[in-house]
Amino acid sequence: MPRIELINITKKWGNFYGVKNLNMVIEDRDFVSLLGPSGCGKTTTLRMIAGLETPTEGIIKIGDKVVFDSNTNVNLSPDKREIGFIFQNYALWPHMTVYENIAFGLENMKWNKKDIDARVKEMLALMKIEEFEKRYPSEISGGQQQRVAIARTLATKPQVLLMDEPLSNLDAKLRLEMRTELKRLHADTDSTFVYVTHDQLEAMTLSTKICLMKEGTIQQYDAPLTVYNKPNNLYVADFVGNPSMNVVSGKFTKAGDDYYVDFLGYQAKFIPKGEIEEVSGDVTIGFRPEFVKIEEEGKIQASVYSTLPSGLETTIKLKIGEEIISSIVFGASDYVTDEVLNCSIVGANVCIFNKEGRKVSMGSLSIE
Ligand SMILES: Nc1ncnc2c1ncn2[C@@H]1O[C@H](COP(=O)(O)OP(=O)(O)OP(=O)(O)O)[C@@H](O)[C@H]1O
Ligand SMILES: [Mg+2]
Repeated sequence: MPRIELINITKKWGNFYGVKNLNMVIEDRDFVSLLGPSGCGKTTTLRMIAGLETPTEGIIKIGDKVVFDSNTNVNLSPDKREIGFIFQNYALWPHMTVYENIAFGLENMKWNKKDIDARVKEMLALMKIEEFEKRYPSEISGGQQQRVAIARTLATKPQVLLMDEPLSNLDAKLRLEMRTELKRLHADTDSTFVYVTHDQLEAMTLSTKICLMKEGTIQQYDAPLTVYNKPNNLYVADFVGNPSMNVVSGKFTKAGDDYYVDFLGYQAKFIPKGEIEEVSGDVTIGFRPEFVKIEEEGKIQASVYSTLPSGLETTIKLKIGEEIISSIVFGASDYVTDEVLNCSIVGANVCIFNKEGRKVSMGSLSIE
């Protein structure tokens, strides 16, 4: 079964590292998202798994097969790796109709005509492109072409499906629908999915695991909720979540067995949850907007800077001294600009980051 393993994978162009010493195991039937900003090495990583890019160093295994090894000069060509690939710039055959494009891979695999027809019809329906089956790629929109590209790849039921931003050309509504379909598809097949996106929400909602990258290196490789709740560092904390995590500077001190943080003009006792790495002095304190609770008995005084009601929830920007933080509440509650109110920071997921931005502890804050 297709488990994918990358061992010490590096891709260099001259002195530039596109990907640096990447180690990652993608378990059978995982849905892994490679997430990160433009240029961080997502496409390069995917192309190395596919065999379309040759790593400078390292080993890649798919299932029990070593498909690449820089030490022994093993390098299987893409067609021997048994993978499906949907490119960022999907290339459809321009001289073939939508139907023929989808049927092409199945004909190569010597399926019989009746089975091909049934499978193509199934794919056309799944991707909601039945009406275009007789048209050529130049006669349909970019979003429709993208759906044909997905249909074409899925038709052959690949065991490993590599996708590079396959929804990038779709409008917002279709994108949402296709996300649901992709997740459903993953549940319905025995395939392993590796999915490239720079959209954190897409990665959060679709994946079993997120690999968050920065400048060719892995910053965190965990389940989405772990990445969200327990970010390894400030970069991860900031990249995942919308509105993003509140980060404010503070001072950390230890008195006896107790820990204290000074921040936003207040002193709070910090009660660590689990381990704590000793730090003192300057730190950054991070807390998600949903943990900022507006309540009368709150010990922190704030004024309403602005509110952004979406209907489902409202983001309230609160001014505390010179800092502005976000609070998020469910439902359509609204507040008056400049209104003075009280708030608390609740829950045990407050993160303490050291000077280098690495998380050293998590816990709760209590202001006397
Ligand atoms: N053939 C090449 N020669 C030199 N540098 C390259 C080459 N291909 C990619 N790079 C560089 O490697 C880095 C990683 O590129 P990659 O395409 O993997 O980024 P990405 O994460 O997919 O970005 P995007 O979200 O914009 O698609 C980039 O800085 C890119 O400029
Ligand atoms: Mg890319």
